[in-house]
Amino acid sequence: MRLLCALGLFLALLHVTSCLLIGAFNIQCFGTSKSKKTDVMATIKEIVLRYDIILIQEVRDKDGTVIQSLMDLVNQGSHQFRNISSGYLGPGSHKERYLFLYRDQTMTVTDSFQYDEGKAGDFNRPPYIVKFSSTQTAVTDFVLIPIHTSPSTAVEELKALVDVVKEAKRKWQNNNIMVLGDFNAGSNYVPMSKRPTIPLFNTNVFHWLIANNVDTTVSRTGNAYDRIVVTDDMYKGMNPHSAGIFDFKNQYALTLDEAKAVSDHFPVEVQIS
Ligand SMILES: *[C@@H]1O[C@H](CO)[C@@H](O)[C@H](O)[C@H]1NC(C)=O
Repeated sequence: MRLLCALGLFLALLHVTSCLLIGAFNIQCFGTSKSKKTDVMATIKEIVLRYDIILIQEVRDKDGTVIQSLMDLVNQGSHQFRNISSGYLGPGSHKERYLFLYRDQTMTVTDSFQYDEGKAGDFNRPPYIVKFSSTQTAVTDFVLIPIHTSPSTAVEELKALVDVVKEAKRKWQNNNIMVLGDFNAGSNYVPMSKRPTIPLFNTNVFHWLIANNVDTTVSRTGNAYDRIVVTDDMYKGMNPHSAGIFDFKNQYALTLDEAKAVSDHFPVEVQIS
C-alpha cells in the first residue's frame, strides 16, 4: 500500500494521478500555552505535513493567534498550506474551533457553511461543513463534515449527524461525504446497546473506516473515540485498507509523556485514490 502511494505521489509530480491523505486530529486543548511549547509544536508540524487535508479539533483560540502561529510554522520552507476554520463554537466559556489545513497545490475549498439547528439543537459544537475540490482524485468534489462530540451527549449528537449529511447533500447536490473527528464513539459514552439507534451506524448506507477495535488513544485505553465515516458514493473513491491511526508516539520514538504533551488522541487517517 505504502509503495502504491509512493508511486502515486511520484506520478503526481508528473501531474498524472495521486492518492491524497486525509486526517482528523483532536489536539487536546490546543491553545496559547501549547502553541508556545517548541517541542510539541515541532511534533504537530511533522504530523500536519503528512496530510493533504487535516481536520484539527479542540482549537482553543479566540482571536486566531494560535492558528496563525501554526500556519507560520507549517509554511516554513516549501510546504504550502491554507486554512479554513469555524467560528468559536460551544456552550459557556468552553469554546473550540474546527480547523482544516489543506495543501494549496492539491486542494481548493469551493464552499463552506455553518450547520445551524437553532438554539435547542443537539450539538455542542455544530459541524462547520467544507466542500473541497481536487484535480488529482477520482472523486473530484467531496464534502467533509467535522464533529467533536461531548462525551455526555455523544449518542444524541451522533444521532443528529445524519441530518447534517442530508443538509450537505441537498445544498450541494453532492453525496461524496465524509464525517470525521472525535465522535467519542467508545467506552460507555456510546455503548453498543445504543448503536442501533444511531442512523449513521446503518451500514447499508455508511461505511465506518475506523472499526470498534481500533484504539485511538495515546494512553491505550482501548477506545475507538475517533472515527471516519463515509457515504457509499464517497467509499468508491476511498482506499479503505489505508484507514487507521497515525501512532506518532512510535513513529517519532517519543516517550509516553512526550506524546501526551501533544495530545491524548492519535490522528485517524485514510487515503482517497
Ligand atoms: C488562515 O485563515 C485566516 C482566517 O480566515 C486567514 O486570514 C489567513 O489568510 C489564512 N492563512 C492561510 C495561509 O491560509
